[in-house]
Amino acid sequence: MIPSSIVILTGAGISAESGLSTFRDKDGIWAKVDVNDVATPEGFARNPDMVHDFYNQRRANMAWAKPNPAHFALARLEQAFPGAFLLVTQNIDDLHERAGSLELVHMHGELKRALCGNCGYRCDADGDLSRDRTCPACGAKGFLRPDVVWFGEMPYHMDRIYAALNACDLFVSIGTSGNVYPAAQFVQEAALAGAHTVELNLEPSLGIDDFAETIHGKAGMIVPQWVDRLLDGKTA
Ligand code: APR
Repeated sequence: MIPSSIVILTGAGISAESGLSTFRDKDGIWAKVDVNDVATPEGFARNPDMVHDFYNQRRANMAWAKPNPAHFALARLEQAFPGAFLLVTQNIDDLHERAGSLELVHMHGELKRALCGNCGYRCDADGDLSRDRTCPACGAKGFLRPDVVWFGEMPYHMDRIYAALNACDLFVSIGTSGNVYPAAQFVQEAALAGAHTVELNLEPSLGIDDFAETIHGKAGMIVPQWVDRLLDGKTA
C-alpha cells in the first residue's frame, strides 16, 4: 500500500556512521559525561564553562561529520513522495539539512543555534559559545546558551508533531533507543491513528513491541534499501 502521509522520527543512531557518537551505546556520550552536568538547566547554572566546552566540542565534531546514505535516502524520499511528509529528529546535528531534508523539525533543538537566557532571543551560535559572549539583542553578557532542549525542558514543535502523528498512515522510527519521552511514545500515538509503524534500528529498541514491523541493521544500509522498496511500492 502506498501511504498518503509519512512521519519519520530519527535519533543518534542515524548519525553514528557519520562519526557522531550516540548516547547510550557502550561507548556513548553518557558513558563518558554525566548527563546531569551537561544536559540540565541546573548543570548549566552550576558550571556554565563545562557545558559550553561540551557543546563547543560537539559543534566542532559536527562540522567535520558528513551526512551518510541514510540521511540522503530520507531527503530523496521527501523529494519523491507525493503525500504529506514530516521528518522529526531528536538529533541536534545538521546532517539532515546538509543531506537536503526540508520538512524537518529538531524537537531537541540545534547545536548551531544559541538562545539568550535573559531575553529569549535566538540566533546562530557562530562559533564557540562562552560566558564572554553577549546577546546581540539585549546585550546581556553570559546568558547565551546552546539552543538545545535539556532534561526537564519542553521539547520544541510538539503541536506540529502531534498533528502530523494523528494524521499519518506510516510512522517510521530510525536510530533511536526509545529511552526518552515524549519521542518514545510517538509510535503509540501513530498506531492509535491507524498508522503502520516501522522500526529501523541497529538492534531492538525499548519500544520494539509497539512496532508492526522491525528491520535491524546499520542505518546506512537498511534505510536506503527501505526507501527504495517504499518508492517501488513494495513495502508499507
Ligand atoms: N544504525 C542504526 N542504528 C544505530 C546505529 C547505526 N549505525 N548505531 C547505533 N544505533 C542505534 C542504537 O542501537 C540505539 O538503539 O541507535 C540508538 C541510539 O540510541 P541513543 O544513544 O539512546 O540515542 P537517542 O535514542 O537518539 O537518544 C534520545 O536522549 O540524551 C537524550 O537528547 C538526547 O536526543 C537524545 C535522546
